[in-house]
Amino acid sequence: MAGPHAIRARLRRASVAAMDRERKLSRAGQRGPVGMGGGTTMKDEELIAAAREAAANAYAPYSDYPVGAALRFADGAIVTGTNIENASYGLSLCAETLAVAKALAEGRRGGLEAVAVTGPAGKGGDAPITPCGRCRQVLNEIAQLGATDPAILCVGAHEVMELRLSDLLPHGFGPAH
Ligand code: THU
Repeated sequence: MAGPHAIRARLRRASVAAMDRERKLSRAGQRGPVGMGGGTTMKDEELIAAAREAAANAYAPYSDYPVGAALRFADGAIVTGTNIENASYGLSLCAETLAVAKALAEGRRGGLEAVAVTGPAGKGGDAPITPCGRCRQVLNEIAQLGATDPAILCVGAHEVMELRLSDLLPHGFGPAH
């Protein structure tokens, strides 16, 4: 049985892995902005471009903060979403949630490999945009269905922060429980 020490060791290893990924990113940031060939693969660039394209159809008249999300699956398919707001503000839907709903409605039940999330340039600072708490849980549903821990590409003005869903939502509750 794993005692508290073993559990702590595992946690430390997990956070070191997350730090390594962040270091990789900041090195990528030094090499130049994403889209200029720094740090990301062609497949990632394609996913980020799909998220940006989706954001062009955002319905975000209240926040004026268009968000794009793109999900890549093991078969190469990309499913996108964007935020859809409502005059009753609290009913607004996030880009990631919409993308997951579309994928599930297409019959997808797993195989989620990677997610790209983009925000508007020059709004709320240059920092990479990270999925909100609700979206992390919604992403976790489709991820756990296929037992994957997808890469989350959080796109900023000058860098892409690549994390795992498990970094953003450790010990997440989902259909595997
Ligand atoms: N938003 C997303 O679409 N995804 C997130 O993960 C964070 C926030 C949207 C909701 C709202 O329409 C706008 O961004 C400002 O919060």
